[in-house]
Amino acid sequence: MKRGTDIAAAADVLRAGGLVAFPTETVYGLGADASRDDAAAKIFAVKGRPRAHPLIVHIAGEIGDWAREVPDAARRLVAAAWPGPLTVILKRGPQVALATTGGADTVGLRMPAHPMALALLRAFGGGVAAPSANRFGHVSPTTADHVVADLGDDVDYVLDGGKCDVGVESTIVDLSRGQPVLLRPGGMPREAIEAIVGPLAAADAAAPAAPGTLASHYAPRAEVIAVEPDEVPAAVRAASGKIAVLAPRSAFGPWGELAVLAYPLPDDLAGMARELYAALRDLDTAGVDVVIAALPPAVGLGEAVGDRLRRAAGPRKP
Ligand code: TXA
Ligand code: MG
Repeated sequence: MKRGTDIAAAADVLRAGGLVAFPTETVYGLGADASRDDAAAKIFAVKGRPRAHPLIVHIAGEIGDWAREVPDAARRLVAAAWPGPLTVILKRGPQVALATTGGADTVGLRMPAHPMALALLRAFGGGVAAPSANRFGHVSPTTADHVVADLGDDVDYVLDGGKCDVGVESTIVDLSRGQPVLLRPGGMPREAIEAIVGPLAAADAAAPAAPGTLASHYAPRAEVIAVEPDEVPAAVRAASGKIAVLAPRSAFGPWGELAVLAYPLPDDLAGMARELYAALRDLDTAGVDVVIAALPPAVGLGEAVGDRLRRAAGPRKP
């Protein structure tokens, strides 16, 4: 594994069919050539991810090169949102390898806003298939150190672009079936998307499966209990072991009597999203058994933060 900021070297690794971890404005991605089955297959092997779970294809060029049909709503949405934390699901174009989409006839496309990601995509010249650069089910990485801690020598090159700005994954909108459907809340708030394409439907049984929407995902080792802020004291009293409370800084005032580890997050939703995954990793490092997390209001980025806390708290497979 090499680590650095050499875009040309990283693009060469992609051309050779290898794996490059790279920063985006949301989280770090584990990238490979999206047009090659053998390259995409390496991602599934390294992540321990089921092969039927499709990867997002990151692009810096024309969306029409990667999808068979680009409906008007998709054009308007990406014109407003890209580069940025939005993934659109469209009908798969022939350049996208079937392994990349897990055999699906749709493809998730996104143009990331991080300058290093854009530089890599331009130097490479193709699409880069990339899930978050963590082991399957674990917390997504928001620094190069997180990537190295999770994947180490299984990656050929780690591009170090510092800390991710947004901190939660992209919002995923399915535009392949007519009415826009919200598959995963994320870094682009629902309100901003609805202002462009109208109301987003909730995912139903016919929606394409997204593993980021499994009940347990984005999970640290510690048990996570996600509750409304006014339920935090009772949740602390009911828990046992080494307990931490994860909540906005201003919430801790009245909780002075709770003799537990306090992990304050910024009070604004953007700050909360940016710090969330690093906080969950820190709490694991501190040997915490139970994290009591206060849910934010479900507006703006609060919808994504609440979604990730609930999934971190979801039932674990033994
Ligand atoms: O912000 C992000 O989206 C980050 C960065 C690296 O871009 N990527 C990310 O990838 O979160 P990943 O693989 O951890 O999550 C991608 C989600 C999965 O839940 C996957 O199922 C869904 O996108 N997805 C991708 N292509 C899809 C498709 N064709 N149909 C339905 N869901 C799709
Ligand atoms: Mg992921």
